[in-house]
Amino acid sequence: MACKGPLSGYRVLDMTQFESGTSCTETLAWLGAEVLKVERPGRGELGRYSQAEPGVDTYGFLVMNMNKKSITCNAKSPEGLELLKGLVAKCDVIVENMGPGSMDNLGLTYEACKEINPKIIYAGLKGFSQSGPYKDYPAFDPIATHTGVMVSATGLPERPIKCGISVADSGTGQMLALSIIAALLQREREGIGQRVDIAMQDFMIGLSRSQWEPYYNNGKVPNRRVANGMPLEDVGPSDTYPCKPFGLNDYVHIYCSRAPGSKQWDNLCEAIGRPDLKQDVCPEMATPRLRFQNREICDTAIKDWLKDHDKFEAMEILCKADVPAGALLSVDDITNDPQYYAPDRQMMVEVEHPQRGKVKLPGFAPKMSAVTVEYESSPALGGSNGEVYGGLLGLSDEKLAELKEKRVI
Ligand SMILES: CC(C)(COP(=O)(O)OP(=O)(O)OC[C@H]1O[C@@H](n2cnc3c(N)ncnc32)[C@H](O)[C@@H]1OP(=O)(O)O)[C@@H](O)C(=O)NCCC(=O)NCCS
Repeated sequence: MACKGPLSGYRVLDMTQFESGTSCTETLAWLGAEVLKVERPGRGELGRYSQAEPGVDTYGFLVMNMNKKSITCNAKSPEGLELLKGLVAKCDVIVENMGPGSMDNLGLTYEACKEINPKIIYAGLKGFSQSGPYKDYPAFDPIATHTGVMVSATGLPERPIKCGISVADSGTGQMLALSIIAALLQREREGIGQRVDIAMQDFMIGLSRSQWEPYYNNGKVPNRRVANGMPLEDVGPSDTYPCKPFGLNDYVHIYCSRAPGSKQWDNLCEAIGRPDLKQDVCPEMATPRLRFQNREICDTAIKDWLKDHDKFEAMEILCKADVPAGALLSVDDITNDPQYYAPDRQMMVEVEHPQRGKVKLPGFAPKMSAVTVEYESSPALGGSNGEVYGGLLGLSDEKLAELKEKRVI
């Protein structure tokens, strides 16, 4: 396994599952950390297999677990626990996102791990704050997006609608990765380890920070839900408009700045051939607020123009005219567009998976001038048992065979 990058030399004991914790440790692995993913013998972590295809790694597992090493360990057996404690001594970081209390029940409390390794960074991700009344509650992504403001601000005025991707899962995971790296920097400077806790609800509250502007402006009434409109205030144009050829994903979102003095609306009028609607020419279109109140006029002009342009053309023409516009791009659009695979971008990468063959998946978004991420497929279950238990903990082949026979590993 390649171990280059800024986190090269750091080792992570990864006791994560599903998306939130696994996306955190995948980021650490992409940045060069050696990530040892601990999984149940035979079953793997909870997200590895689906009921539909038992024994075959889910695509969800592939996308969350690149560049890691997998070891199997029954943490509930005394011998398995000893193996894990041996690894705690050899690791810089532990990351886990089990249900509340599970790590403590296993005997892997922060205090126990700190006793083994005083400089350990012990990172726990839960649904809810460990110092609040919901601390013992389980949580998946939609629980966190509902309890963390986002869904109250998303959807139609009469109906909240949750987001289609797992913002709370991967978002919390990325914030945890950032905090772990900060804790490692502090350890370098001050020589101390520490516990890092993050709750998905709390992450979502922070992510929803823009909602406090309309909250105070509108007299603290419940959140505005404006479908695809501008959530902060009533301004136009701001909508997701249908365009040629009017299929399921043939839309473009257009939003003109509400900042005083912005020329974006005038630029749009020029681009769509309607100079008669410019702010100094047409009184109904003079300000963002007036354009919202008279949105029938501006929306009709935009929709008429989009009858002759698909989402890609519309985005190109408008953005080149300095009008913010975004084509509605699906997973299919992204997967089949070569621009995302460019060597200096690698937002999409192709990996070879033993069961799934060649698979195209998203990579690491930031680009760093001194870092090149080398992408590797997610690991086979227990694929690094020999290397980790034999190499790192010094167990003999006989001992490994015995542990395997007893289903400890
Ligand atoms: C996501 C969640 C609701 C799933 O709940 P769940 O399916 O009941 O799974 P849990 O994590 O609670 O339980 C996992 C069990 O497997 C056990 N386990 C985990 N790894 C193990 C291993 N290697 N060997 C043996 N047992 C293992 C744990 O000890 C735990 O046992 P326990 O219930 O007796 O304590 C819960 O884990 C949770 O709330 N996590 C925190 C929030 C989170 O990350 N949510 C988003 C996930 S994308």
